[in-house]
Amino acid sequence: MLIDTSKYIDYSIVNPSKLPIDLQFDLCQRCHIQGNVVLNEGKSFFDFKPGMKLSEVMNVFMPVYKDNEEQHIMASHAERLKLSKCFWQFRQEKN
Ligand code: HEC
Repeated sequence: MLIDTSKYIDYSIVNPSKLPIDLQFDLCQRCHIQGNVVLNEGKSFFDFKPGMKLSEVMNVFMPVYKDNEEQHIMASHAERLKLSKCFWQFRQEKN
């Protein structure tokens, strides 16, 4: 069925901008986080769907090495964003 998206929400596809910010991060972090990934028991990488919490399917552990705490891996965009001053300020304003 076609939905007039100027008037209604098309629930057949997830619009990330409509998700709460933590679920937006989880969506992007399905790919944009590089750490040690541990799948939950019985889960596969294909079980994650946009709108879910990433931790329902997998947990990602970020290795931090002594004297190298500032180091981030290439695809850690979301993690870097969360550490930025502007994001901290945004979080404070929201709370
Ligand atoms: C299914 C995996 C996947 C998901 C989910 C995903 N991305 Fe990506 N993203 C990629 C890949 C792979 C690339 C690199 C593509 C290329 O270079 O050809 C990329 C590239 C990017 C880039 C360019 C990065 C650069 O350094 O040039 C940005 C920005 C980006 N993604 C943002 C996002 C955002 C924001 C989200 C969440 C709304 C998201 N991505 C979700 C896989 C994903």
